[in-house]
Amino acid sequence: MSFEVPVVATIEDLRSFVRARRADGERIGLVPTMGALHAGHLSLVEEARRHAERVIVTIFVNPTQFGPNEDFLRYPRTLATDCEKLGTVAADLVFAPTVEVMYPKGFATTVTLEGPAKADLEDRFRPAHFAGVATVVAKLLNQAQADIAVFGEKDYQQLLVIHHMARDLDMATRILAGPTLRDPDGLAMSSRNVYLSAEDRARAPALYRALSDAAARIAAGEAIGHVMAEAREAIVGAGFDIDYVEARHADTLARIARRHEGPIRILAAARLGATRLIDNVAVPAS
Ligand code: PAF
Repeated sequence: MSFEVPVVATIEDLRSFVRARRADGERIGLVPTMGALHAGHLSLVEEARRHAERVIVTIFVNPTQFGPNEDFLRYPRTLATDCEKLGTVAADLVFAPTVEVMYPKGFATTVTLEGPAKADLEDRFRPAHFAGVATVVAKLLNQAQADIAVFGEKDYQQLLVIHHMARDLDMATRILAGPTLRDPDGLAMSSRNVYLSAEDRARAPALYRALSDAAARIAAGEAIGHVMAEAREAIVGAGFDIDYVEARHADTLARIARRHEGPIRILAAARLGATRLIDNVAVPAS
């Protein structure tokens, strides 16, 4: 069954939807996205639905989180098909503002971040990225005043950054995580996978294979340094250029040398041709 999902583009319309639903005693869930939706996004909507009677999906390709040489202009914009997909999971509202609504003339405020935003991972390669993400997410959370908001674990550093921001700035919305969805061969679903050539798409699952293999070996007690060096070799051997492949503390992203130093997350970014893939896996508790 599929429903037609109403789309609004102004903050006033978004807020009047939220006010009306709240007046009926309903909780509001928010799923911020940049559109080009796939099954991973739809699973975030389903996760939001477990915590809220109404789910709003925001679709906004946020210019401030793209670097000067990144793919802002060619990022896929597919609002009509996104709305059809959201109809299949019965999302209640799409908020699709324009750049002018989100960044009106004279806009002059940016969220400044430390902690997991300065972990020397994504931030090393995309220096202004998290300030752009945090600023737009702060705006979306303020605009919607939702009870909960769901973000994917696929962007693990982003998830921690948003958690910290919401906690540090006493935001009322509770931040929840949704697990990464994968294609049958293990490739993490991502709106950017459409950029992969057929040949690169065939190579791409090697990234997840190397990360899961490393996670299993670390869980089994092998030395982190040695395992990670072999994981990097496997990823390069599959044809990737590596930005980073690292084992970090899962809560703080601090560097970690031994298994007992904390819950561990292995995070990676690597390029196949012009396409940059990111992925991460948890090291299972032993
Ligand atoms: O993960 C994304 O799609 C974006 O970074 C987000 C959280 C919607 C902010 O633009």
